[in-house]
Amino acid sequence: MAEHLRHARRVTVLTGAGISAESGVPTFRDALTGLWAQYRAEELATPEAFARNPALVWDWYRMRRELVAGIQPNPGHRALRALEEWVPDLVLITQNVDGLHRRAGSSRVIELHGSLERARCSRENTVFESWDETGEAPPRCRACGAPLRPDVVWFGELLPPEALRAAERAARNCDLFLSIGTSNLVEPAASLPWRAAAGGAEVVVINVTMEGQRSGPGIHHLIGPAGEVLPALLQAAWPAR
Ligand code: OAD
Repeated sequence: MAEHLRHARRVTVLTGAGISAESGVPTFRDALTGLWAQYRAEELATPEAFARNPALVWDWYRMRRELVAGIQPNPGHRALRALEEWVPDLVLITQNVDGLHRRAGSSRVIELHGSLERARCSRENTVFESWDETGEAPPRCRACGAPLRPDVVWFGELLPPEALRAAERAARNCDLFLSIGTSNLVEPAASLPWRAAAGGAEVVVINVTMEGQRSGPGIHHLIGPAGEVLPALLQAAWPAR
């Protein structure tokens, strides 16, 4: 694997919740903890849930924003930041909305499912990096007064078209595809590694388990926590660095 990485020209990376697990961010398939144990992500992250109870959905995302604000990127995020310097062309696609890749300094990040750090007008779709917290949940759009919603993709919603096109292009045009910390269950992100393999790329799957992961020619598995496997992989590829 280290050889593939050292000689790769164009590397595309897809990350899921597993790469943030070692930072303390629960993955989707972990049971929701504490106050939220009574809910499933699928019951909160939907347009119907927001229409039914906008305050509850807004508060769930506010709780997740506050959780993420108090934690740091881990060695897995930092290894991918370093990799940007060591390969000629790297594109990082993430399904995560926690913003930890950007906070680790990664520059070419495609946020397929949006970001907790942004909100958008539920009427006009205007995106806001900041908003007035008046105590009302959800806060109001300062332009038109409609409720704000998190700028994330909910179940049943389409992905941002330009992000999806960029991700599919990066999957088709790479010679190495790293799939890191994802259960590979949710389309269209789940197909990206296999599109890369179909295009002749080597695929390396980094996960703590092989459960649910595809095997086959050109698909390699590194089993272990991303925060340990990624730094070790870079060390093996560039021992002198
Ligand atoms: P999941 O919670 O489905 O899967 C997390 C994956 O990370 C699992 O395969 C774990 O085995 C693996 N994992 C856990 N800890 C790890 C570690 N330390 N190192 C490496 N791997 C580890 O999260 P996602 O695959 O990201 O969609 O879920 C994909 C999408 O499903 C999410 O983006 C979300 C959810 O519905 C939307 O919100 C639209």
